[in-house]
Amino acid sequence: MPTILAVESSCDDTSVAIASESGVLAHVGRSQLLHETYGGVVPELASREHLAQLLPLTRQALKLAGISTNQIDAFAVTAGPGLPGALMVGISFVKSLSLVLNKPLIAVHHMHAHIMAHFIDPPKPSFPLLCLTVSGGHTQLVYLSEPFEFKVIGQTLDDAAGEAFDKGARMLGLPYPGGPHVDALARQGNPSFLSLPISKVPGLNFSFSGLKTSLSNALDKGKGTRPDYIEVHRADLCASLQRAIIEMLIQKLKAASQLYPSADLALAGGVAANGGLQQAAATLCAENGCRLHLPKLEYCTDNAAMIAQTAMFYYTKGHFARQDLVARPRWPLSTESLYTAP
Ligand code: KG4
Ligand code: ZN
Repeated sequence: MPTILAVESSCDDTSVAIASESGVLAHVGRSQLLHETYGGVVPELASREHLAQLLPLTRQALKLAGISTNQIDAFAVTAGPGLPGALMVGISFVKSLSLVLNKPLIAVHHMHAHIMAHFIDPPKPSFPLLCLTVSGGHTQLVYLSEPFEFKVIGQTLDDAAGEAFDKGARMLGLPYPGGPHVDALARQGNPSFLSLPISKVPGLNFSFSGLKTSLSNALDKGKGTRPDYIEVHRADLCASLQRAIIEMLIQKLKAASQLYPSADLALAGGVAANGGLQQAAATLCAENGCRLHLPKLEYCTDNAAMIAQTAMFYYTKGHFARQDLVARPRWPLSTESLYTAP
């Protein structure tokens, strides 16, 4: 098995990891907190920050792993989907390393990597595997018969689950990204405080935009009764918002597990860190008699360890990228799309 250095820079996390047969040798990263002030990711600032952080983080990762660049067998990078400028910074950086050191380049699909994060540490899932990937930009149900044979069987028609958390949190006066704040406050709140209807969407698809409107209307009504309505009821409002998001996710996950039975079920992406979602998925798995896989917290949100892990699979298959690799900001997830040269 090769030793791979991987870079993740698709959004607002800059991360570098080195992995080999013995597992993750080093994993370092930096979340760009500067976006908090703006209430969302500012693409231009994200690119600049990646540019500033990549070299020091790479040096740090090499030092932690105790190896030098010429001991690396291949260089991997997230080629998409993500912010165009942010992706380009990571791609240019990794291309330079691969070119100078004359080692292969591997282009990894970010959403494929979120799923492959489950193969970093044991217990590793077996196939077929049903995975719910929930992040700030995506909400997808993916059925995998093998690591490289999969089908997206459901996805969001509007906002992603993470976006629903972040936008809801913003209405409740919480900083960006709001998901972890909602999660923490929801633990102290009453989920039945507010009844937020979830959209009826056919099949295995999701929708969260109606939830945003319902929350906004409920907050306007509440503030009409008392101006400090949000401050007084923040925990209850968080618990109610979280309950509605989870209800939509679990409803579809349940339907998917009936249509695509599999003994292994996984949660992936930043929202997979949510305590309420993990609990609801555990209950579903207990009912269905299937094994639930939750990645470690550091592998739920964006990280380069999952890129290195996925690149191991790519390397074994001899699936390398060319030096004319470009960013694929809107790279759809499908088995076929992985084999079309980015
Ligand atoms: O996968 P990720 O790090 O980046 C993307 O690829 O988008 O996911 C980030 C998203 C954000 O929307 C953030 O609010 C959400 O994951 N998130 C959470 C939690 N931790 C992160 N949402 C709910 N509960 C959490 N504990
Ligand atoms: Zn992600």
